Amino acid sequence: MYRCPKCHEKLNKLANSYVCENHHCYDIAKSGYVNLCLHQRKAQGDNKEMVQARSEFLQQAYYEPLRQRLIALMKQYPADCMIDAGCGQGYYTNEIAKAMPFSEVYGFDLSKFALKKAAGKAENAYYALASVAELPLCDHCADILVSVFAPIYEKEFERLLKTNGCFIKVGPGPRHLWELKQLLYETVYENEAPKPMDCLKLIHEETLRYETDFEHSQHIQALLMMTPYAYRTPKSAIQRLESIGKLHTTLDFYIQVWQKQ
Ligand SMILES: C[S@@+](CC[C@H](N)C(=O)[O-])C[C@H]1O[C@@H](n2cnc3c(N)ncnc32)[C@H](O)[C@@H]1O
Ligand SMILES: [Zn+2]
Repeated sequence: MYRCPKCHEKLNKLANSYVCENHHCYDIAKSGYVNLCLHQRKAQGDNKEMVQARSEFLQQAYYEPLRQRLIALMKQYPADCMIDAGCGQGYYTNEIAKAMPFSEVYGFDLSKFALKKAAGKAENAYYALASVAELPLCDHCADILVSVFAPIYEKEFERLLKTNGCFIKVGPGPRHLWELKQLLYETVYENEAPKPMDCLKLIHEETLRYETDFEHSQHIQALLMMTPYAYRTPKSAIQRLESIGKLHTTLDFYIQVWQKQ
């Protein structure tokens, strides 16, 4: 289903490469993902440390209720083709692929560190390095496109969706990590509501909110590394967080389904 990022012709798999009829060729890495990004020097995917921290955090079960909810929701929307745009290390993608064995599942990310992990664990999902701003896929190919805490390019997503296809968008709800933020900042603000989309129609919206206990300082550090707070917060506040071993906090997610009309 991939198209060539140079000439937009269909890519065919030949041994360990994808090749188009104009002989542009893209090798599949040993771990199983293909690099379809033409502007890699500008690529801004997560670095090794961020990916490692997220892997350590996700290995714990803290986000499992979100993953299960997402899978249950996706099963309501039958799909021949499903895209995870900004899939990271495939925490959601690989489970979705297992739960939807008759769908073709594609994950895209700009981080080769994340894709290496994703593809290493993949059973029936395909992974490629590409920007979600310009995905190497044909128009109207996807029944479902999902984005979990990843950048959103509405025009591009609309191009990829079939008519009646759905974009499932997951992000932080107003109270996400509230108690963690209270430890870091004097004044804490709720997260803003997600931005409306112009080209797609909102057909479903829900909130998933629960509280959890982080039992190890390592998990709290890994969680912090996954958030924008790791870079915005004064060192003294980070040190305060490092000194605590446990944290009770709220996890709050919005899940929206937008349909292409
Ligand atoms: C917060 S992580 C979420 C990853 C995954 N969806 C998850 O929830 O585990 C955001 C991901 O988006 C990727 N990313 C950032 N900008 C991107 C872009 N323009 N195109 C593709 N991936 C991008 C990063 O490399 C990172 O893996
Ligand atoms: Zn080509």
